[in-house]
Amino acid sequence: GYDAGPFLPRRGGLPALRKAAAGCEGCPLFRNASGTVFGAGPSSARIVVVGEQPGDQEDRQGAPFVGPAGRLLREALEEVGIEEESAYFTNAVKHFKFEPAARGKRRIHKAPSLREMSACRPWLAAELRVIEPELVLALGATAGKALLGGSFRISEQRGLLLPMPPWDALGRTDVSGTDGMPAEEAAAHGCVVGTIHPSAVLRADDRRAAYRGLVTDLRVAADVLA
Ligand code: URA
Repeated sequence: GYDAGPFLPRRGGLPALRKAAAGCEGCPLFRNASGTVFGAGPSSARIVVVGEQPGDQEDRQGAPFVGPAGRLLREALEEVGIEEESAYFTNAVKHFKFEPAARGKRRIHKAPSLREMSACRPWLAAELRVIEPELVLALGATAGKALLGGSFRISEQRGLLLPMPPWDALGRTDVSGTDGMPAEEAAAHGCVVGTIHPSAVLRADDRRAAYRGLVTDLRVAADVLA
């Protein structure tokens, strides 16, 4: 089956992980993408922001959240006082998955499959193990499911303080029916906060309302870090 596991280095910090990830062939997505888009940010980050997968711009530039969704995300983080420098940005899946547009050179984003998400999870677990953030921000359903498991629903769990799973149990928590934790507990033990993906804000009919919703959830995260 698909698995990034065999490509992980036995030791080393983020630089060793990044170097090894560049050669990952744990699933077929490496064949069509320009390259691996590994996470970016300091290993001292208090917050890890997890997206779905790199987009067209990220694939071209080799860095996460450098396109339109990234710009919107940075603006929203700034609005709630989360400094970009204190955050590490990464994705649940580290290669761009796309299909060519019917005409022209445009590349259309395709959602990663469950197999691709699971295959790539060892990289995410390794990043989190090195960084040990106080809070993980999950952007969108893919990130939420990659971190917590298939029971995660944006509509039900967004903005809640969810317990941080042990790194070796990533993606295998049952969060159905949870009300979230009190802020003191979240700050003491680490937590996951889910919200909508910034791309969903860009696509929303009522973009303003969607953006306000994103900021409301980010404020929950900012309060834990305060
Ligand atoms: N969307 C994501 O989920 N990740 C990126 O890096 C860019 C856009």
